[in-house]
Amino acid sequence: MIMPNPAKLRLTGISKSFHVDNQIFPVLENIALEVTEGQFVSVIGPSGCGKTTLLKCIAGLDEPTSGTIELDGNVIGSRLGLIGFMPQKDLLLPWRTVLDNAMLGLEVIGRDGDQYRQQAIKMMDIFGIKEFKNRYPDALSGGMRQRVAFLRTLLVDQQLFLLDEPFGALDAFTRGQMQEWLLTIWSTFKKTVILITHDVEEAILLSDKVYVLSHTPGRVILELDVKLDRPREYGVLTDPQFIDFKKTLIDALRAK
Ligand SMILES: Nc1ncnc2c1ncn2[C@@H]1O[C@H](COP(=O)(O)OP(=O)(O)OP(=O)(O)O)[C@@H](O)[C@H]1O
Ligand SMILES: [Mg+2]
Repeated sequence: MIMPNPAKLRLTGISKSFHVDNQIFPVLENIALEVTEGQFVSVIGPSGCGKTTLLKCIAGLDEPTSGTIELDGNVIGSRLGLIGFMPQKDLLLPWRTVLDNAMLGLEVIGRDGDQYRQQAIKMMDIFGIKEFKNRYPDALSGGMRQRVAFLRTLLVDQQLFLLDEPFGALDAFTRGQMQEWLLTIWSTFKKTVILITHDVEEAILLSDKVYVLSHTPGRVILELDVKLDRPREYGVLTDPQFIDFKKTLIDALRAK
């Protein structure tokens, strides 16, 4: 009998509460989520609904109060280091050059020899930041800083990447450029990605599937398959089907 491939990531019944001043605050409630190999999945939801908490639980930076997290069909006790996580703030170190910032994740796992530096420089070319490799983060635009932070995450070469609102702080124009750029990078490197965003259009443009979370405590209120052809370009934003998806997501977000 041929067994179907297990999902790259499967969350079942994930709940999370925080204890503050002897009180219990439920933040996530019974989340079920599935991502298959190579998929691009987005999670959208109102501010404070638990999106970052969800990513931290997946990455192993925090643990859910209940529920299971399976990677390739296995529940793994310590996921830390197995999953790439790009936090909401770029967290570039101001005293390190762009290249040394990009190398940080590799250094942590002892891969900082010359061959890895050469590989990082090659990737910087693809990311359009090679000419800035000896500059310091202060001298970069917001979009470039995000590219460095993303490269740092990608260089460690994990199979699953979690991106927490990577473009949240960028102006609309740069954001659009970065979305197109991310689409190219994703189709080139064929990684499995979970993206957190507030932006409905960003979620549709980039994703195969979008999960909508409710207000706190975050529950999945909609799972939407984005059946739009790939490769996608920015022009798809005016496609009638794109507008239908947008309406569906906005209606879900507005529902109490
Ligand atoms: N370590 C913690 N201790 C107590 N409460 C926490 C902790 N971390 C997060 N929270 C609370 O959990 C809730 C969800 O936070 P989280 O950062 O996951 O939201 P979010 O959906 O990512 O919000 P945003 O869109 O603004 O980034 C918030 O009310 C927050 O105050
Ligand atoms: Mg957040």
